[in-house]
Amino acid sequence: MSTKREFDVIIWGASGFTGRLVAEYYLNTYGLDGELKWAMAGRNQTKLEEVRKGLGNDNIPLILADSHDTASLNELAKRTKVVCTTVGPYAKYGNELVAACVENGTDYCDLAGETQWIRRMIDKHHKAAKEAGCRIVHCCGFDSIPSDMGVYFLQREAKHHYGEYCYHIKMRLKAAKGAMSGGTFASMNNVMLEASKDPEVKKVIFNPYGLNPQGEMSGPDKPDMQSVKYDSDLKAWIMPFIMAAINTRVVRRSHALKSYPYGKDFLYDEAMMSGKGFTGRAKGYAGLLTLGLMMAGKPGSWYKNTINRFFPEPGEGPNKAEREAGFFTFSVIGRMNDRTLVAKVTGDRDPGYGSTSKMLGESAACLALDKKHLPKMCGVLTPSTAMGDALLHRLEEKAGLGFSIEP
Ligand SMILES: NC(=O)c1ccc[n+]([C@@H]2O[C@H](COP(=O)([O-])OP(=O)(O)OC[C@H]3O[C@@H](n4cnc5c(N)ncnc54)[C@H](OP(=O)(O)O)[C@@H]3O)[C@@H](O)[C@H]2O)c1
Repeated sequence: MSTKREFDVIIWGASGFTGRLVAEYYLNTYGLDGELKWAMAGRNQTKLEEVRKGLGNDNIPLILADSHDTASLNELAKRTKVVCTTVGPYAKYGNELVAACVENGTDYCDLAGETQWIRRMIDKHHKAAKEAGCRIVHCCGFDSIPSDMGVYFLQREAKHHYGEYCYHIKMRLKAAKGAMSGGTFASMNNVMLEASKDPEVKKVIFNPYGLNPQGEMSGPDKPDMQSVKYDSDLKAWIMPFIMAAINTRVVRRSHALKSYPYGKDFLYDEAMMSGKGFTGRAKGYAGLLTLGLMMAGKPGSWYKNTINRFFPEPGEGPNKAEREAGFFTFSVIGRMNDRTLVAKVTGDRDPGYGSTSKMLGESAACLALDKKHLPKMCGVLTPSTAMGDALLHRLEEKAGLGFSIEP
């Protein structure tokens, strides 16, 4: 890839809820003429100008590119080292941009949590991206950075301190505060719509190894948890975690891309802690019921349309005060032959937007500025396989994430 590009990072989708937050984060963290050269892109000049005005800096470069205009996407990909995209649902708007980045040897990162679409990108572009020497990195937000980098961190520490890897890791969301945006809700609805129309999509979504390389899409892990259970490590009740559907696939893909260093029988699962005692158990069942109501109903049905009214529209999401009051804490419990090692992963803003915009922004900055320190791997990758220690460092230094081993 040529290093003589006009920009380090272009944020495509800067007029949307999350894209605007990434731009704001860049302006506050890197300024405009500092070590990171960046620009905002979108399909609507007026909206981009409004965002720029809101950020209070008229000098932020603006670029027009529409998902329906391949030439504009190629031009975008040629001008920058990295495209950081928040234009979603990705399954609707993302195909041509990934193709343009591979075509031009441009690194890429996004917030896609749409398993079926990521599968399509792997099948279509992994080999070509490897040959082009670029990194296509999906899932650089709350799904799936805490999981993927949490496992990476715990295994690194296990190997370093005890000379062996954990053979079983359990990721448990212990506490979180935040809300959903309209864009995320639209993306979730689109996954359900595609799954209702195409049994192949369903197969990929429900396969625990749905993002593994072709020919390696099986292993010892069972489908994601669907009930309320007691976790003896936490001494608390746990319930299904909606993001497990993407996070577990990303962690397993990372393992497969590294040729199974933790062993072919490595086990991984995710769940959410609902609390201790009778109240924890009752909260678990209440959470399960809420999840069931959210996922039930055929797309387009009266029930689904009624439920949809309770969720935000694209472009809407939690306000600044809500984002700043938000946080998340995971426990990553690793079993080794003669001990259990526990890591804590934390974030200092709401998971979906305040923290996600910083995680995505730092992923793009890492791809653009830390090239020399990145693992020598190209293709359609995961955050940990594409960026490893360099990303871990940035997340802790700049993005408000914490990774530590519990005493
Ligand atoms: N993984 C995570 O943790 C996480 C967290 C947050 C968000 N997300 C994902 O991020 C995506 C964005 O979410 P959001 O809430 O920011 O959505 P949003 O507010 O609806 O923003 C979507 C953006 O896409 C742009 N867009 C739509 N159609 C386009 C087209 N044809 N060509 C070019 N641009 C187009 C919109 O431009 P206009 O302004 O011109 O309409 C807008 O800038 C979603 O897929 C969501 O699921 C993931």
